[in-house]
Formats: sequence, structure tokens, C-alpha cells
Amino acid sequence: MKLLVTGGAGFIGSNFTRMVLAERLTWEVVVLDKLTYAGRMENLQDLQGDPRFTFVKGDICDPSIVSETMTGCDGVVNFAAETHVDRSISDAFSFVRTDIDGVRVLLEEFRKEDRTLFLQISTDEVYGSVETGRSTETDLLAPRSPYAASKAGGELLAMSYRTTFGTPVVVSRASNNYGPCQYPEKLIPLFLTNAMDGEPLPLYGDGLNRRDWLFVSDHCRALLHILESGEPGQVYNVGTGREHTNREITEAILTVTGADRSLVRYIDDRPGHDRRYALDVAFIERSLGWKPEIGFEEGLQLTVDWYRENRSWWEEIKSGKFREYYRDMYAERLRDSRGE
Ligand code: NAD
Ligand code: DAU
Repeated sequence: MKLLVTGGAGFIGSNFTRMVLAERLTWEVVVLDKLTYAGRMENLQDLQGDPRFTFVKGDICDPSIVSETMTGCDGVVNFAAETHVDRSISDAFSFVRTDIDGVRVLLEEFRKEDRTLFLQISTDEVYGSVETGRSTETDLLAPRSPYAASKAGGELLAMSYRTTFGTPVVVSRASNNYGPCQYPEKLIPLFLTNAMDGEPLPLYGDGLNRRDWLFVSDHCRALLHILESGEPGQVYNVGTGREHTNREITEAILTVTGADRSLVRYIDDRPGHDRRYALDVAFIERSLGWKPEIGFEEGLQLTVDWYRENRSWWEEIKSGKFREYYRDMYAERLRDSRGE
């Protein structure tokens, strides 16, 4: 199998590429990544020199680089995306471009040859905020942020190629991932690294929004199952079926880092903040025999260990352009914040 992995220098894509090369010894991987602010070559450093691994810097919206990199590939796993909800609220343009039009460019190239599978990585956010019960794969989509709407557009487009052209497309919808190499704009790495530095932990709203937290290796393993045994035309939810409020996550981070609870600050909410995501994962468990293996406490400990051992990775990010982003996103809200 020769796979094109787009967005492979990001958080989940790099963890996935490492798992594939370690566990599928005859497979080859070509990573295509634009190296946006979220893409880091350091995430793939240990793979350089592996003859089964190739890295190409490029944009999935560019048909010529997509054509070049897809040559000889049997399968495509499309991780490439703009991924941060808060950034999509400030400016949706790059989200619509990459998360929808980028998918079109990939699909157009994909269908020129006889290939095995196009795996479109989507998200539980496409279901919108789920007040009660759990989302199943046949539920209507009701995305509520520009990020979620763009991801919904991307997966609907991918499935339309299945219907219209018979392209072998599969969609996965995962819950909130955490683990090594996650860019520190997201809740867990932001709070972990802030806690290690004695900086505030800015909780949005009342801190009672709920998410299903999935350790990244569990997600990657589910994707391997889908690639090997998934059925074209299917959608697979990937999550743990367990939920935590953001306050519970913060509490766990305070405990594991030993930071002082005076760091916790309640700040103005994210506009349109989805209250709850909750996935029904019975379908992937039943049809592909996948189950998550890492519990939250274990996953958080593994994550803290990684951020402790890789301080230079996140310090370099947080001392660069990230500072401007952090100031724009948080400075005023932190001035008006309250503690517990
Ligand atoms: P990330 O932001 O860490 O990485 C995204 C990667 O895509 C980066 O390496 C970036 O350089 C690359 N990229 C962005 N635009 C590109 C373009 N136009 N061309 C080529 N490369 C481009 O993201 P992540 O958290 O690893 O998420 C990966 C995928 O998984 C995304 O599709 C996301 O929607 C989906 N997802 C993420 C989560 C989560 O909790 N992180 C959960 C469910 C689904
Ligand atoms: O559910 C899957 C999605 O999870 C992925 O598709 C997205 O790519 C990924 O970014 C993530 O989206 P969320 O918006 O859920 O993740 P984020 O880490 O930004 O926020 C998690 C929760 O924590 C959410 O309720 C908002 C809250 N939060 C977040 C940040 C960054 C805070 O309270 N304070 C913060 O500073």
C-alpha cells in the first residue's frame, strides 16, 4: 500500500504517519503538507531517512502538486485542514478554501486512476451541539461554527463523489483528540503548558461545555481499521463514548501539573459555543472491532510527560507568532475575567 497522507505534519497526521510506518512494514507514506502555522517538520523528524517515507511541502488546493504527489498512491487520507474553531470565527476564508475546495482538488485527482480508498477525516462537530443523547452516523448534520460548516462541506462533497462517480470514499467523524504534538492553541495543550509556566487557564463561559476526549493513538488505530476493513460509502464515528466538562479537564490538569487553582480564570464565552458533543460509537465497534484502549487519566499522563520532555517544541511555538494570536484572543478577556 502506498498512502498519500495530507496534513501529515500536523498533530493527528504526524501521529498517524508514525504509527503506519511502525506497524505496517510494507507500506509507504507520502506526506503532503503546506506547513501552515500548525504544521511542524519537527513532528516528523524521527521519520526522515526512512526509505518508505517522503515529505512534500505543498497545498492541497494546488492541482499540480496534488497530481504529482498522488502519482502511484493507492489510498489517500486527508487530514489537511484549518482546524481551530476560534480562528474560524475571526476569519473563515482559509477554512472554506482548504476544508472544502482542497477536498475537491484531491477528489478530482483521486478519481483519475483506479485507487483503493479516499478517507476523509471529519469531526463530530458536524452534528452541531447535542443537548441530549448521542449522535449516530445517520443523524442530520447541523454545524454551527465556520470550522464545523467547512468540515461538513468537505465530507458532503467527498460523499457526493461516491454517489456521482462511484469513488471509493469513506468518512470518519472523530471527537476531541489530545496527545503528543498538539498545537498549544487547543484546550488541553494550552492549559497544560500555561499551567507549567504559571500562566492563567482561561475557561470560556461557565466551563460546563462537554466533550468526548479521545487519545490520539486510539484515533489513529481506528483509522487503520477503516483503511483496511472500512466499507466505501460508510461514515464511522470515532470516540470514547465518555464525556468531561471543561472544568473537569481543568481540574485534572491542575492535579497532574501541581499548579495553583488561582490560575483558573473564567472569561467571555466563544461566540456560538457548542454546549456538548457526544458520539454513539457502536457502529465502528460492531463492524470493525475497534475500541479505544487509553483511559483519560492514562492519556493525560502520557500527554503531560510528552509536553514535559519536549519543552523546546512548545516554547518555540509560544514565543513566536503565537504571542500575537494569544494577545488578540485572550488579553482583553483576561483583563475582565473572574476566578473561582
Ligand atoms: P492540525 O491543525 O494540527 O494540522 C493540520 C495540518 O494540515 C497542518 O500540518 C497544516 O500545515 C496542514 N494544512 C493546512 N492547510 C493545508 C493545505 N491547504 N494544504 C496542505 N496542508 C495543509 O490539525 P489536527 O488536529 O491534526 O487535525 C487533523 C484533521 O483531523 C483535520 O481534518 C481535523 O478537522 C480533523 N479532526 C481533528 C480533531 C482534533 O481534535 N484535533 C478531531 C476530529 C477531527
Ligand atoms: O470535536 C472535535 C473538534 O475538537 C475538532 O474537529 C477540532 O479541530 C478541534 O479543534 C476541537 O474543537 P473544540 O472547539 O472542541 O476544541 P478546543 O480545544 O478549541 O476547545 C475545547 C473546549 O474547551 C471547548 O468547549 C472550548 C473550551 N476552551 C478552549 C480554549 C482554547 C476554553 O474554555 N478555553 C480555551 O482557551
